[in-house]
Amino acid sequence: MLLIDERDQWKTHHRLRHRASIKAFRWLSRKNIIKARPGERFRIQRHTVRIAGLPGELAGLTIAHLSDLHVGTIIRPEFLPSIVDKINAIGADLIANTGDLIDHDNQYLAPTVEALAGLEAPLGVYHVLGNHDYRDDGPAVIDALRAAQLNVLVNEHHRVAHRGRHIAVAGIDWAQHPVNIAHLVDHACGQANGDDFKLLLAHHPHALDPAAEHGVHLVLAGHTHGGQFVFRKNRHGRESIGLGNFKFRYAQGHYTRHRTHLYVTSGLGGSFPLRFRCPAEVGVLELHPA
Ligand SMILES: [Fe+2]
Repeated sequence: MLLIDERDQWKTHHRLRHRASIKAFRWLSRKNIIKARPGERFRIQRHTVRIAGLPGELAGLTIAHLSDLHVGTIIRPEFLPSIVDKINAIGADLIANTGDLIDHDNQYLAPTVEALAGLEAPLGVYHVLGNHDYRDDGPAVIDALRAAQLNVLVNEHHRVAHRGRHIAVAGIDWAQHPVNIAHLVDHACGQANGDDFKLLLAHHPHALDPAAEHGVHLVLAGHTHGGQFVFRKNRHGRESIGLGNFKFRYAQGHYTRHRTHLYVTSGLGGSFPLRFRCPAEVGVLELHPA
């Protein structure tokens, strides 16, 4: 499916960085500098999204958006039931998970899938994969999600009815090269019905650009972890400025292109355990007509 081969392999520098992160995490925990394990605390970040042309029947629709759990050495599988309970307690109409379920290693896959199966929403729970899900065996991650009857969107869309209207929930597989992202978005969104409300889940936030060409209404993405270090908060209409801005066009928060909205969540976890002014979060988006 990818036009350019770019699978994110688990390379030596990834291993070294991962090992250094784990050591740093253990040292900081011993010194009591990190008081809570990642995954124990996160904020519920609410946004109102005003979308041009949103049918009145979909006004008030809520989407809970989680991403970047990175279940592994830092976010342990035993934290997942409490995370799942907190997300279910939001009572969103739909739940979207934009990837990096596990951190490098499929030994964490079974408990992760088992816990994610506990997420519940009337319009469904949808997952896409991130780069870390491919570091060990990505196809096995897809198979495990499907075997547990979970909706994993691999360059496709599902159509779900709500109050007489339809929502096309599309999702793309992991890609980061712009040519690949555009190709996968074409595949996932190209066949969607023109009258449907179009929601796209992508791990990489740069999916906004091709999504805008397809008239997607809302894109949800993760991957950046918000940069994990933010130096200036979103003020006076400016975007936050942090480490994420060095690498990503869309690093954290709300962006628009043409009439397409994008929300990039700071996510729940990460391979590196520290954050500065960039708390772990679950987003809750409430949709209204512009
Ligand atoms: Fe991630």
